[in-house]
Amino acid sequence: MTIAAAKAAAAVKGPRFSLRSRSPAQTRAAAAALGRLATPGTVICLRGSLGSGKTVFVQGLARGLRVGRGQAVRSPTFTLLHEYAGRLPLFHWDLYRLRSAGEWAALGWEEVCDGPAVTVLEWADRAGPLLPRDRVEVALAIAGPRERELTFRATGRNSRALLRAWSAPRPL
Ligand SMILES: Nc1ncnc2c1ncn2[C@@H]1O[C@H](COP(=O)(O)OP(=O)(O)OP(=O)(O)O)[C@@H](O)[C@H]1O
Ligand SMILES: [Mg+2]
Repeated sequence: MTIAAAKAAAAVKGPRFSLRSRSPAQTRAAAAALGRLATPGTVICLRGSLGSGKTVFVQGLARGLRVGRGQAVRSPTFTLLHEYAGRLPLFHWDLYRLRSAGEWAALGWEEVCDGPAVTVLEWADRAGPLLPRDRVEVALAIAGPRERELTFRATGRNSRALLRAWSAPRPL
């Protein structure tokens, strides 16, 4: 790869941070920090196996967005979408049961992502190529009974600014 090509690739990938969480509370705290900094239109994609902590992450994100405690964050597996009212509206998708990316398009996700809300998706891979170009990607990997490896990556301008503001303890 030429130096120019490597630089271009790095620009697309943006900053990338990895974080070792040792408890659900730590995962929530990291997500809450992101929620406090999120801006209208922020899109966060969560990828990771069953039980890796995606819903726990959304609970922290909601706390950072000052979603009231009366609005419990659970996995919206049977409804695909939950909405919570906070400092900004929070749209929480769980695409696990999505039959096709086209089905998601039909549900009007584009209007949701373009509005003032913060959007978070569990099982973002189910959306295939439909995801917005500029988003924060979070990969969650199970590293032990209470340990999770969280890797954050920005794919565009706004997500890069967000991850830069969000201070990470260990840049990769
Ligand atoms: N460090 C940690 N961070 C997050 N969750 C943890 C951690 N350690 C243990 N856990 C446990 O792992 C489980 C994560 O469950 P959660 O519902 O968030 O997973 P999920 O990725 O949303 O799964 P699904 O794909 O079924 O929706 C919880 O029971 C939580 O208590
Ligand atoms: Mg879940």
